[in-house]
Amino acid sequence: MCGIVGSISTKTNIIPILLDGLKTLEYRGYDSAGLSYIKDGNLTINKVKGRVKDLEKNIKKDAFSNIGIAHTRWATHGKVNEINAHPHHVGKITIVHNGIIENFNKLKHKLEDKGYKFKSESDTEIATGLLDYYYNKYQSIDKAIQKFIKKVDGSYAICLILDNEDAIYVIKKDSPLIIGKGKDENYIASDVPAILKYTKNYYILEDYEYGKVTNEKITIYDKDGNIIKKELKEYQGSTRTSDKGIYEHYMLKEIMEQNTTIRKTIDPYISSINDLLKLPDLTKYERIDIIACGTAMYAGLAAKYLFEEYTNTKCEVFLASEYRYQNNFLNDKVLSIFISQSGETADTLAALKKVKENKCDSLGIVNVKESSIARNIDKVLYTEAGTEIAVASTKAYTAQVALLSTLILAHAYRKQIFKEEKIIKILEEFKNIDQILKPILENTDLYKKIADEIYEKNDIFYIGRGLDYALAMEGALKLKEISYIHSEAYAAGELKHGTISLITQGTPVFASATNKKINSKTISNLKEVISRGAKCYLITDEDFKDNSIQLIKIKKVSMFLKPILTVIPYQLIAYYTAKLKGCDIDKPRNLAKSVTVE
Ligand code: M6R
Repeated sequence: MCGIVGSISTKTNIIPILLDGLKTLEYRGYDSAGLSYIKDGNLTINKVKGRVKDLEKNIKKDAFSNIGIAHTRWATHGKVNEINAHPHHVGKITIVHNGIIENFNKLKHKLEDKGYKFKSESDTEIATGLLDYYYNKYQSIDKAIQKFIKKVDGSYAICLILDNEDAIYVIKKDSPLIIGKGKDENYIASDVPAILKYTKNYYILEDYEYGKVTNEKITIYDKDGNIIKKELKEYQGSTRTSDKGIYEHYMLKEIMEQNTTIRKTIDPYISSINDLLKLPDLTKYERIDIIACGTAMYAGLAAKYLFEEYTNTKCEVFLASEYRYQNNFLNDKVLSIFISQSGETADTLAALKKVKENKCDSLGIVNVKESSIARNIDKVLYTEAGTEIAVASTKAYTAQVALLSTLILAHAYRKQIFKEEKIIKILEEFKNIDQILKPILENTDLYKKIADEIYEKNDIFYIGRGLDYALAMEGALKLKEISYIHSEAYAAGELKHGTISLITQGTPVFASATNKKINSKTISNLKEVISRGAKCYLITDEDFKDNSIQLIKIKKVSMFLKPILTVIPYQLIAYYTAKLKGCDIDKPRNLAKSVTVE
């Protein structure tokens, strides 16, 4: 989603730093970009609808400045155009903003009554106006910011410059913002990677905090203007920027990496039972709630099946956007597990805050280290998927599922449901995951053939029962988000209660049947749609022959590995289908990698 970069320096030209930071954040998804800087007391603002490279062309070749702020915008309020793009400038104030000002309409009318006129449809311009109004009223930017924090509802990470001061101000609530500390220059960013080329040291702003950044000093305040002492963090991950290597797209690279990312994630827990028992003990809980969005939520649905089937533990899965506004029936016998690749998803973070307000236990399955969810949760288990650049989540999903599977195995052992020999057998399979995945990852010709058969279709269905239904949902999401083909998942038994009316000659229907207890039922459901003209594809580990169904065979493994083996063909079929359609695979239209607004 939106990205922020800011920099202030004694000598260095900060414009290349800002552009470089924006380029690092590009993968997160945006539709317009802008940058403003001050030189000799003169403010310049450049904005474009389109890409950072277009913005770069718009900036004068000899432009030089020691202070500036920049932004990539993912439209929320107002169309995608230059006027709505950030920075916004009102009076003496210029800002870039991530988030949504929820009471912007009321504030707009109040400001208009005071004579303010606005040019854009953006809530950010109203925020700029409000800051300018308070700045004029109190003749103090500190007072203006403190008042702003009191008056504004919604989420904001704001980077602000004044026409007449060599400082950048930052304000934060419910949207990430960090301040990087350099030598003779400092940086601001919504995400650490944007400034890693320049510094590994940074401060994290918490909600309702604001800061003043000059080239030599960083001061952070609470909402009442008291100075806060903060810990200077040092980034621990790799500073190497991810590249596509031999692959045409990040998505394909990330799919192909799964043989190593899964192993890396679960490696600390699979050598022995003792290692497995390093995972948290869940035996005191009567119910597990899993809360997440999108693909992470589908990983949770796969885990629900394993929790309930193999540990006899009640598990509920919630979309974070719904969870935050419903009755959650929390008590101290409930563990809430939050799953997130980015660790910054606004709804998931808000749901976590709700659990914490209720003083209930929380556990995170998070990929990005030191992200907001990782920092705010009681306990975090990291997936080791590495940086995931493609918007469509692939290796993060399988790492989440693998980590949850080991957690559930440990729980089954502690509850004495699984004997040692059984656990050791499953752990052996996990140790062999790269060999098990090899033929699935290499089955390219079959995936390309299937893609060729489906890429011109308008509607595609995915069905399954039990665990396979959870996998069908992830399969359908992968296809729709990158190929723009309408695809829906259904519980296999549910089709004939309505949806089967949509099946016509040649409608593709995908299914997976990986649970011998119910496979025959799913296959009967496939037969029902075949009778009505559907073209069917079946992922299965069964020795099953049927000329009317295209089989995608996977190895027979324990149920704990099946989500991983089944989802990879779905990922690769989606990839090759989107490729045939000529879609922008890594950056699908309208989507953002990290959804930091509600
Ligand atoms: O960063 P998160 O895991 O919290 O993100 C959740 C979803 O936004 C994400 O999984 C989204 O659905 C992906 N684009 C799916 O491929």
